[in-house]
Amino acid sequence: GEVSKGAYPTFMLKEIDEQPAVMRRISQEYLTTSGQPQIEPKLLQTLAQADRLYFVAAGTSYHASLVGKRLFEKYTQIPAEVGVASEFGYHWPILSQQPVFIFLSQSGETADSRQVLIEAKRRHLPTLVITNVANSTLARESDYSLVLHAGPEIAVASTKAYTAQIAVEAVLAKALGEYLAIPAALAWDLQMQLSLAANGMATLVDDKQGWADLAANFLGASQDAFYLGRGIDYDVSLEAALKLKEISYVHTEGFAAGELKHGTIALIEQDVPVITFITERTTASHTRGNVQEVLARGAQVLVIASEACQQATDQIVLPELTPELMPLLTGVCGQLLAYYATLQRGLNVDQPRNLAKSVTVE
Ligand code: G6P
Repeated sequence: GEVSKGAYPTFMLKEIDEQPAVMRRISQEYLTTSGQPQIEPKLLQTLAQADRLYFVAAGTSYHASLVGKRLFEKYTQIPAEVGVASEFGYHWPILSQQPVFIFLSQSGETADSRQVLIEAKRRHLPTLVITNVANSTLARESDYSLVLHAGPEIAVASTKAYTAQIAVEAVLAKALGEYLAIPAALAWDLQMQLSLAANGMATLVDDKQGWADLAANFLGASQDAFYLGRGIDYDVSLEAALKLKEISYVHTEGFAAGELKHGTIALIEQDVPVITFITERTTASHTRGNVQEVLARGAQVLVIASEACQQATDQIVLPELTPELMPLLTGVCGQLLAYYATLQRGLNVDQPRNLAKSVTVE
């Protein structure tokens, strides 16, 4: 039947709020009570034979795939590549000997992704689709499919599907890594991590006034905003920048913090908002250096850090998760900032101009 907003003013806020419950549901659907991942053996056998995984997706699902590459390389030791579907489809790379294709698509209907799926099948290559819609076109046309259990996502800007995609990727990476007897996978308490993620998300979404204030202070006036981070924080910078631009029409850019000095710093002037994610310990000091560089040019810097990386002036401090799962929290921060910045501009949060929930033309 029709999905209702209930007491919520918008679908987007409802869907942001649902994320702790979605994490718990994925844990229940995919893990046994003792925390063992439950994945069809045939799919694990197929993936175990891969010498390389090719993730293909569009939009927010592409950003979730970037996180997937890191999860799979760490926990399965299988190399992975990530492609934007609309590029991949017309510029096929030279493939490895035993590729397996993994498509991420909230709707399961995106034409750009489908086009790559059709060509992969024509080449007799194994395909898996991770989607929120069990009976979608991509789910029906692929060899294997996994569902997100996020519940219907109505707002055009994807929120709970992004975090659900990351959680399901984590389940699959753990299952495959255990199947391959990779020590890191065997030692990883994913059930605990998903529980910590759910609790961390709940703390974030409970502080609505805090996010509204941050959005007003940092994003209230500007028509530009920059998001920066390194490694996993770079991946989330891309998603957080997309989230704000697609609903608020603020021009945003997400970029690798180390690239700042190679170009973007030319744009940093008085009062430009720079949202910085610092959850990666190994590179935190370099990103702190970037923060100093933009502060020296008058930027308004909002730092979102993890406990282990925090400094006294940071506005948001997040509990530690497995490093590759930090987007479950940093991603929600990006969503909340985008949401309130858009609301404060009086714009239609759920149905931004020019955008569709799923794009069924190439
Ligand atoms: C559209 C939506 C985006 C979404 C993208 C991919 O552009 O506006 O929010 O990320 O399609 O959609 P999919 O359903 O394949 O994840």
